[in-house]
Amino acid sequence: LPTRSQVDPGSLPAYACQRHTPLNHHNLCFTEALETLAEAAGFEGSQGRLISFRRAASVLRALPGPITNVSQLRGLPCFGDHSSRIVQELLEHGISSEVERVKQSERYQTMKLFTQIFGVGVKTADKWYREGLRTLEDLQGQTRKLNRQQEAGIRHFEDLSSSVWRHEADAIQRVVEEAVWQVLPGASVTLTGGFRRGKLQGHDVDFLITHPVEGQEAGLIPKVMGLLESQGLVLYQHTQSNHYQDFKDLEHKVSQSTAIDAYERCFSILWLPKSPTSFHPEAGEGPKEPSRDGKAVRVDLVVAPISQFAFALLGWTGSQHFERELRRFSRAEKQMLLNSHGLYHPEKKESLPAASEEDIFTHLGLEYIAPEQRNA
Ligand code: CTP
Ligand code: MN
Ligand code: MN
Ligand code: MN
Repeated sequence: LPTRSQVDPGSLPAYACQRHTPLNHHNLCFTEALETLAEAAGFEGSQGRLISFRRAASVLRALPGPITNVSQLRGLPCFGDHSSRIVQELLEHGISSEVERVKQSERYQTMKLFTQIFGVGVKTADKWYREGLRTLEDLQGQTRKLNRQQEAGIRHFEDLSSSVWRHEADAIQRVVEEAVWQVLPGASVTLTGGFRRGKLQGHDVDFLITHPVEGQEAGLIPKVMGLLESQGLVLYQHTQSNHYQDFKDLEHKVSQSTAIDAYERCFSILWLPKSPTSFHPEAGEGPKEPSRDGKAVRVDLVVAPISQFAFALLGWTGSQHFERELRRFSRAEKQMLLNSHGLYHPEKKESLPAASEEDIFTHLGLEYIAPEQRNA
């Protein structure tokens, strides 16, 4: 935990990428309330309100101590009237009537349930809500409405809605590495996402794969998934090949800084046997139904060429808010465009290379923030 002397709230910088944000902080009751309002705003398509509440919550996560008096909010960046009012309510009554009303509403509860399903975003959840659907049973009675991904999401809902623990992420890493090395010796598999930020549990496991020789990594995922499939470990997978053609296209890609990246990737549900020795894929028809012998886990694989690896690593480590703030800082303060492929200066028409995350922070004139301090 940060010490009290480390950050003077009066001098807290405005962008999350300029701050140290540890996983464990001192203002959980406030951040939970503000995150609920952010989430609810997102359910209504209010992106602006979502970001305002999220920014306020993120500031509180970076504070060296707890807020005990509303006067401490004065001078904090990103703290508007609404967020201040919520904190004040919590300080005075220990509970916020607005937050409680949201949490108890049928709309919020249903949207939360639906968007928790793998493959279901706000748009789809909202459509189903307006059609009168409310429960998983309602959806199961309307299977024609579901695509393959959503159908898998509902089939494995129980497993996927329970946390993935760090030791389970490590076990999956060993399985993935084994397959990757068999297909491409010398390749590396790096744990990214929340686990790289030091989280002990997550909603999925994220891996970034590369190879020291540029180009060797191309086309890796289909072979890896084929191998895992032959081991009976794949419950669902959707692979996309990369769609950057050459370096010109990469520059184009960097300049479209809001678009999803163009790396070869796979969104999957893998089967994690409880103990490797108790699993005999050749013995039965395979783990189509989750049993007590293991569990279904969401796994994301991304493959980056070594020349873009640092950008991919920075982009896939998160948090999502930290990433959003990095890009906003680059654009507004440095007139540069950052994404998971590179850093581009449109006026100078130049891409800045980076061999490490540290290089990228240096290009941006930012102090290096370690992954464990990116929990913005
Ligand atoms: N990400 C991305 N494009 C996507 C999905 C995710 O660039 N289509 C990035 C996010 O910005 C984030 C990282 O991948 O930086 C990990 O995303 P995710 O797995 O959703 O979140 P985590 O931070 O890992 O948290 P959790 O424990 O809930 O998985
Ligand atoms: Mn710190
Ligand atoms: Mn993740
Ligand atoms: Mn993920």
